[in-house]
Amino acid sequence: MYSKEELSEGLATRVVGNKIFAFETIDSTNACARTLGDVDTSEGAVVVADFQTNGRGRLGRTWISEPESNLLFSVLLRPMVKVELAGLLTLYASAAVARAIEKCISEPVECKWPNDLLLHKRKFCGILLENSFQQSGLGYAIVGVGINVNQRALPPDIAGKATSLARETGKEYDRKTIFQAVLTELDVLYESARKGDFDLIVADWTKRCQMFGKSVTVQQHDHMIEGTALRLNHDGGLVISTTAGTQTVYAGDVTLVS
Ligand code: BTN
Repeated sequence: MYSKEELSEGLATRVVGNKIFAFETIDSTNACARTLGDVDTSEGAVVVADFQTNGRGRLGRTWISEPESNLLFSVLLRPMVKVELAGLLTLYASAAVARAIEKCISEPVECKWPNDLLLHKRKFCGILLENSFQQSGLGYAIVGVGINVNQRALPPDIAGKATSLARETGKEYDRKTIFQAVLTELDVLYESARKGDFDLIVADWTKRCQMFGKSVTVQQHDHMIEGTALRLNHDGGLVISTTAGTQTVYAGDVTLVS
């Protein structure tokens, strides 16, 4: 377990990580960061934990992570982003984490819509964005990041699709180094994301995504959409050409049809 002092030592960010709250065990770093967001008006705080008893994933799923092996943290932000563009913050976080991990492991990282990062086609990182909307617009955004770093064994139900940095590269990593690298890239890209300027972020994310021009299926809770992934919409939705016309989707599990 790293202390907040260790995790901040040498960190030279302006906003992201200006306060760090470190826990050995917590229910969910996202839930804790939301509580902070409700009572505090600042931004940049990071809640990090070695283990979560109720880690949250996208679409109501749980995020399971071995104790003291991985990175589990959430960042509280208050960007000046129009409500309808708030979903682009997922792409901001994905691009930042991808940049950081590439620097740490010297291998290319793939972005998969909407919130996954892949190494050798397997998911090692998931991002859970939780926005709090107020009458005046976006009150705050919680960027939750789960990175499988050193975990080797995976639950059988996800073993074919999930991975960790250690599994893919055969090396163990210092979690503090990875944590600080990710906070640094989140801080760098936040300069534009904070102002609602996502052009470079979307370009970076798109460059790392391999599904455009390819046949995909999108599984939504009650139905499946099939078509060709065309591009991202201005608000981060995925534009798909289907036999029924062009559709934009905002949620679901995308699979490439090879
Ligand atoms: C997903 O791929 O479904 C998103 C997973 C996000 C998991 C992280 S772990 C840290 C933060 N706290 C949570 O409860 N969830 C996110």
